[in-house]
Amino acid sequence: MSASPHCAYARRASVKRLTGVSSTAGTRTFLGAMKETCMLCAPVDLRTDTLDSPLCIGSRSPEFAWRLPAGSEAQAAYQVQVTAGDGSAAGEPAWDSGRVTGTEPFGVTYEGTSLMSCRHYGWRVRVWSGTEQDPGPWSEYASFETGVLDPERWAARWVSGPAPAAKTDYRVLYLRATVDLPAPVVRGRAYVSALGWYRFFVNGHDLTGPALVPRWTPFDQYVEYQAYDVTEAFRAGGNVVSMAVGDGRFRGANGLTGKQAVYGDRTAGLVQVHLDLEDGSTVTVVSDGSWQVGTGRIRAADPMFGERVDLRVPDEDWLTSYALPARFGPAEVLDDRRTLIAEDVPAVCEIERLSPRTISRASSGRQIVDFGQNFAGVVRIRLPAGPGTTVRLTHSEVLRKDGELDIDYIHGLPVNRWYQRDELLLGDEATWWSPWFTIHGFRYVEVDGLPGDLSAQDIEGIVLSSTLPDAGGFDCSDQRLVRLRRNVSWSLRSNFTDTPTDCPTRERSGWTGDIQVFAPTSTTFVDVQAYLRRYLRNLAAEQLPDGRVPVFVPAEVSSFSGGMAKLMRMVAQSAGWGDAAVLLPWTLYRYYGDRSVLERQYPSMTAWVDQLTRRAREKRRINRRLRGSANPDVDPFLLDTGFHFGEWLRPGQGFAASILDSMRHSPVTATAYFEHSARTLSDIATVLGRDADATRYRELADHTRSAWRAAFLHDDGRVGTDRQDDYVRALAFGLLEHDERPAAVDRLVALIEEADDHLATGFLSTPMLLPVLVDAGRPDVAWRLLLQTTTPSWLYQVEQGATTVWETWNGYNTKGEAKESHNHYAFGAVVGFLTEYVAGLSPAEPGYRVFDVCPLVGGGLTSARAEVQTPYGAASSSWVASESKVTLEVTVPPGSTARVHTGTGNPPQELRSGTHTVVWPRAEKRGQG
Ligand code: BGC
Repeated sequence: MSASPHCAYARRASVKRLTGVSSTAGTRTFLGAMKETCMLCAPVDLRTDTLDSPLCIGSRSPEFAWRLPAGSEAQAAYQVQVTAGDGSAAGEPAWDSGRVTGTEPFGVTYEGTSLMSCRHYGWRVRVWSGTEQDPGPWSEYASFETGVLDPERWAARWVSGPAPAAKTDYRVLYLRATVDLPAPVVRGRAYVSALGWYRFFVNGHDLTGPALVPRWTPFDQYVEYQAYDVTEAFRAGGNVVSMAVGDGRFRGANGLTGKQAVYGDRTAGLVQVHLDLEDGSTVTVVSDGSWQVGTGRIRAADPMFGERVDLRVPDEDWLTSYALPARFGPAEVLDDRRTLIAEDVPAVCEIERLSPRTISRASSGRQIVDFGQNFAGVVRIRLPAGPGTTVRLTHSEVLRKDGELDIDYIHGLPVNRWYQRDELLLGDEATWWSPWFTIHGFRYVEVDGLPGDLSAQDIEGIVLSSTLPDAGGFDCSDQRLVRLRRNVSWSLRSNFTDTPTDCPTRERSGWTGDIQVFAPTSTTFVDVQAYLRRYLRNLAAEQLPDGRVPVFVPAEVSSFSGGMAKLMRMVAQSAGWGDAAVLLPWTLYRYYGDRSVLERQYPSMTAWVDQLTRRAREKRRINRRLRGSANPDVDPFLLDTGFHFGEWLRPGQGFAASILDSMRHSPVTATAYFEHSARTLSDIATVLGRDADATRYRELADHTRSAWRAAFLHDDGRVGTDRQDDYVRALAFGLLEHDERPAAVDRLVALIEEADDHLATGFLSTPMLLPVLVDAGRPDVAWRLLLQTTTPSWLYQVEQGATTVWETWNGYNTKGEAKESHNHYAFGAVVGFLTEYVAGLSPAEPGYRVFDVCPLVGGGLTSARAEVQTPYGAASSSWVASESKVTLEVTVPPGSTARVHTGTGNPPQELRSGTHTVVWPRAEKRGQG
């Protein structure tokens, strides 16, 4: 999306053809229908570091946020009180902010006594309105607990098994210890991590579930740990603490090449349990040399390649039997002191279960289960007894034309390995089974080797995703658009598991460009604040010393495997990808008012832009060098060297063609992003009060803009290589003067029309295409593209039966064979347009303090509705259009202001907290596609 959020009607005051109604008559606002704000209510929805009652706050200065119930008066001041101990008024006072003037119900940083490790805290808040002398009532107490804030409190050691004898000897570790307790537990907390993915158990209780933790970080620098409430799991007497560790991201296959052991070849576990007993004593249990290690039924487990399981091996004894099973011996303590940090995002969980839509036999005789939905997760299957019989479950997104499972459709897959395949040796008894340490991207499962036919009651799909709170909805009268949005939501859920990835099948890497383009849209589905803050922390941690940003984060490198390859360092400067360093924090600021992420990421952003600046100044393409004539106004600001992915995957361009194209034409894209990031950085510096930097980066952006114009804006008004994305970028980034814009828009429209009303944009520009057209006064063209049903278009996929978003526009080649990933959210970024333009609800000031409501009535739609959970509360815009009028209902949360634009030529109406109805006559043809 363009840097400054957009309200089509607000921006296009001068565009005559769209302002069909010019008089003020006919616009009515029914304030009577709204609930008058008249009272100060107790704040609700209290969150600490964006989370609800977290158990593992890793910072000494957490941030508090709350919301006011609908109908409350706006906040003018607040007071926060924090107590240590039992999290109530009876606790020990830790902080009283006193009355603080402030209208934002978020971003309030703890400033009390130094927080202690592993402690329970409670906090509450009350607010004053602008009109009342007295505060409103206190909220209920919310709680948070700190993790291990003082590194010296870690007494646990990393425990492991014997070093692997060979590269193929990647066994799953089974670890355990026994603990005798003299009395029942009144409070128990476990802090657990692993080098690999683990499941942690106490007396057989699975405390981790399918969380696939620890998530992926630059493991050389830090590993995340999780906290568990284990109060109920322990008992007086003998207890068994156990843990299994699979390869996870640490030793498991990574990236395009599926390389294993990137971070190390020895998995390990780490456990520290603090128990308060009923008799007043405390017990600490830590992983150390007293622990035992053994084997279990999972022989090997890899995130990509799947699990190998021997169901003949017992699975109860190591979890519950106080006596040591014979296959266990002493664990080895590793001499490893790597940094541990608290995991501060919602866990990966099962979010849904799917029943098979069909189960059939392909001509090979293998059974094919179709879940009717592409997703990321695993299966749960009922397996019969059959000792020694091998059953193979192979997962894929697509079938071949002959009805067999297609595992060759993705370019470069390591298909000769056991990719996305779980392999089981059946046991002595029938059992339900699900893998622990793998995740697949699939819609179909091929079941091979199973004696007998599967029935629909024997298998289900377990959908896994991070449990990010829902934060937005959309509906409209055209069900195809609703379906499109649903597909995007599935792609989001599938790729927001560990860290945001490109796809859940092939490389599963945290590509910076993909999340850069998709992040604004993701906020219209779920609360991504904590999730993307985490991503940015990893990004900054792996930024190269000179400021370059790896193209995926984590960068899939470590000292164990030799550090970053030259090729990866070379591509770590790609325009549109590395710019995530600046554009992602800005997205979090725009949608959540998140100033602290700007502060935290500031060194990372400046390092990125500063390295672009140096590169532009110091390096020149060969043609410029040969030309010799230095133009001091242009030369130092052109970014025409270095590797850039460029627009990437325009329709009809495969990977190779995209790279070749970019090698020839990247300067126009790269210099535009250089300008855009420098200007955004200047805005960020302004927000942070860094005035000198704000001026410096603004001047840099101005110079770069002039250089871009001198190099890429041709005398005849053509831009760059005269492709759709050249115009989209130029218009979205403000690279053209006001009077140059109409010609650029006309040319963009001509190119679209020459393509028979089809888009020709790739990864970078597609999300900006429709907003640019609407802002430029061509909603008719935007509607035609949005509703286009032949390829390339969004609805083509929908009409082809897609259930997620495809990586390429076609998804299949001309022979009808599937090609490339079928679950990439990047092109799905368009659905931000549905919320922000079609329903018309978009932030105008950070965190929706002011938001625009600017419905785009047209495209044959008779209604549209969107709601967003803003930091102030739920906001919504819902319109219904008849032949003669448009009726709009707007909900404004307390403390926020809506600016309603009706497109009638009237100035926007400002609406405050409550629900309002606005009606205006429908202009002929306005917005019609
Ligand atoms: C990924 C993309 C990524 C791209 C880089 C692909 O392999 O799947 O989504 O952004 O490479 O251009």
